[in-house]
Amino acid sequence: MAGLIDQDTVNRILDAADIVDVVSDFVKLKRRGVNYIGLCPFHNDRTPSFSVSPSKGLCKCFSCGKGGSSVGFLMELEQMSYVEALRYLAKKYNIEIKERELTDAEREAKNNRESMLAINQFALEQFEHNLTQETDGQTIGLPYFRERGISDAAIKRFHLGYALDRRDALLNAAVQHGYNEKYLIETGLCIKNDRDQVYDRFKGRVIYPIFSISGKVVAFGGRTLRSDKTVAKYVNSPESAIYSKSHELYGLYQAKQSIVKKNKCILVEGYMDVISMSQSGIENVVASSGTALTDGQIRLIHRFTENVTVIYDSDAAGIKASLRGIDMLLAEGMKIKVLLLPDGEDPDSFAQSHTTAEVEQYIADNETDFIRFKTRILLEGVENDPIKRSEVITDIVKSISVIPDSITRTVYIGECSRILNIDETVLRLEVDKATARQRENYKYNEQISQTTPAQQMTPAQTAGTNNRPQSTIESTAKSRRLLESCERELLKYALKYGTVTLCEAVDADGNSTPMTVLEYIAEELSADGIVWTNSIHKEAFDTAMQLYRESWPNDRQKHIETTQSRRDEMWNNGMSEIQSTAIDMADIKKQEIALKEKCDNFTADEIDRFANDYLNIRMASSPNAEIRQLTVDLVSERHQLSKVHTKYTHIETERDKLIDLVPKAVASVKDAHLAIMLKLENEALARLDTTAPDYIENLAAIMKNIDNYTRLRMQLARNLGERVIVPRR
Ligand code: CTP
Ligand code: MN
Repeated sequence: MAGLIDQDTVNRILDAADIVDVVSDFVKLKRRGVNYIGLCPFHNDRTPSFSVSPSKGLCKCFSCGKGGSSVGFLMELEQMSYVEALRYLAKKYNIEIKERELTDAEREAKNNRESMLAINQFALEQFEHNLTQETDGQTIGLPYFRERGISDAAIKRFHLGYALDRRDALLNAAVQHGYNEKYLIETGLCIKNDRDQVYDRFKGRVIYPIFSISGKVVAFGGRTLRSDKTVAKYVNSPESAIYSKSHELYGLYQAKQSIVKKNKCILVEGYMDVISMSQSGIENVVASSGTALTDGQIRLIHRFTENVTVIYDSDAAGIKASLRGIDMLLAEGMKIKVLLLPDGEDPDSFAQSHTTAEVEQYIADNETDFIRFKTRILLEGVENDPIKRSEVITDIVKSISVIPDSITRTVYIGECSRILNIDETVLRLEVDKATARQRENYKYNEQISQTTPAQQMTPAQTAGTNNRPQSTIESTAKSRRLLESCERELLKYALKYGTVTLCEAVDADGNSTPMTVLEYIAEELSADGIVWTNSIHKEAFDTAMQLYRESWPNDRQKHIETTQSRRDEMWNNGMSEIQSTAIDMADIKKQEIALKEKCDNFTADEIDRFANDYLNIRMASSPNAEIRQLTVDLVSERHQLSKVHTKYTHIETERDKLIDLVPKAVASVKDAHLAIMLKLENEALARLDTTAPDYIENLAAIMKNIDNYTRLRMQLARNLGERVIVPRR
């Protein structure tokens, strides 16, 4: 079992991995300028949009946006886990992996999980063995699958099995093989009743094992072979330390490659649906296993594709019940289609009775866009009932408003206005209102409210937010979006140039110390009590700070030492070369000066490069997918000034201008905060009850705040050299 890789090894792997080299194993690259380009492996690319930057150690597709550092690239393309990607690179670069010592608590948790996984693996092998090698399996289990048209290949692929119909068959076998009864119970393979008797949970059932993304058996589903309505059709493993139902999807392990290749995931309901579709050649199928789709499952799918087609049997009640869950998919930015099967069919029966080509054709011909589908379903039969109709409109508006992408929203507004037969502008207005309301709720509740910048910047009256006028709700939502993009810009500098020295900081005693971009940003923000309002921005910044504080000093020191010794070697080699080739003393002297310059430049460049790439590479190789993506997005920009140095020209790069850019970005964030605070104060002002006894005090408090914020904003603007028009009062 993979342990934790120690940090030193991780560093060595990240430093050794050469992005061009790593990507070249999967993509044919051609040199273009300082970068390399090739066809994007993440989407169907006709002209090369995939760019690899050796200097940044990153790759990115400018068409579909995917990419990352070497680690991120492998995780994305090959669906490796973080540790798997590191191990892959270690192997490629012959780096020996040292594992970190675990703490006692970590070891215990790990042992516990490993024991559970091990016992599940044992059970899996037993169940598979039973199905094909034991008489009961051959005469009871196997014929069941045969009768349902399941091929031997599918049985293998999904590791289907059979649990013998004895209350202690698995229990005895496991104990005999030295497994601990404790783990049989923790995994739910066995049940202990209140009389302390232990027996097999799945006895007499056919078995559908459930695999995690990395292929470990985390749970089982067992189907009864009886048609008796009094026994549960399915029995499933309970939740445990290794199985969280809402975070797994049945069939994903088998489907993931195909999902990526087809850039599409088909979502069905049951085990049998997945297996039948898959054996008929449509492999990008997963099941939510009878429960409503959860956030966790959606994220899981989203790691592989944005496109989901949900297949329903044509049972109308089921469809209406599931519409809610699909709004969640939309909110995650997924593109959802829906497919209805002919009356009386489910994916299992449909796939069994049609050829692959027929099924594919049917899907292509009949899948409909979700919003259109929903509109039609809801509208059915209520066209002439104005009240019901307006309920439908409200519902559709809600669905459209959760879509994060504004262009997609616009397309839907256009279409739905036609289907619903209402004016497009009216519909747009409704959607915009709902969008604003959602952002307001989300941001207000989850972020700003707990992270209000500094006490002195708190609005005087935030109570009674419910009766805030609609127009201001929209305008604060806009301000918050602005704040978010200002944060993003600032974060870009933090991640891209965090370890670069920005300026000299002078303390009270007149001592000056170099201050890096990261230190500057952290200090500026904390001095004003400003925190990141977007949670992923916050997490990224905190991670960068942690790296900077905990690993950077050491890593940098080590790197300087290596560079020094490389420099010494270069110097010594150069000197002996000079001594053996120089023609006279003057020549020696001349050559020595040149050599010294070369060595010094080497040292400076090398140290500079290391500092420049340090955070980029590590953040873009984070185990957290959101941080990886954010880093890549921020660090790679399509249009960049190329650095041209000749004797006569020096084109300024972003890096040369940091001393202007970073303070400006900090100021923009502060200003965006102030803008929100001001808006809130103005709202409070509009809401003030003029008849209240403390009206004057309240008014004064608000005015004081407004005054205060306005002054701060002007000061900021002045610092940035912008022209300010002082408002008249
Ligand atoms: N399910 C469950 N427990 C039940 C019924 C259903 O866990 N008592 C889950 C299973 O994951 C099942 C899915 O819900 O696969 C869909 O249920 P259903 O359509 O009834 O089962 P099928 O998979 O179609 O099974 P079969 O075709 O064998 O009846
Ligand atoms: Mn079925």
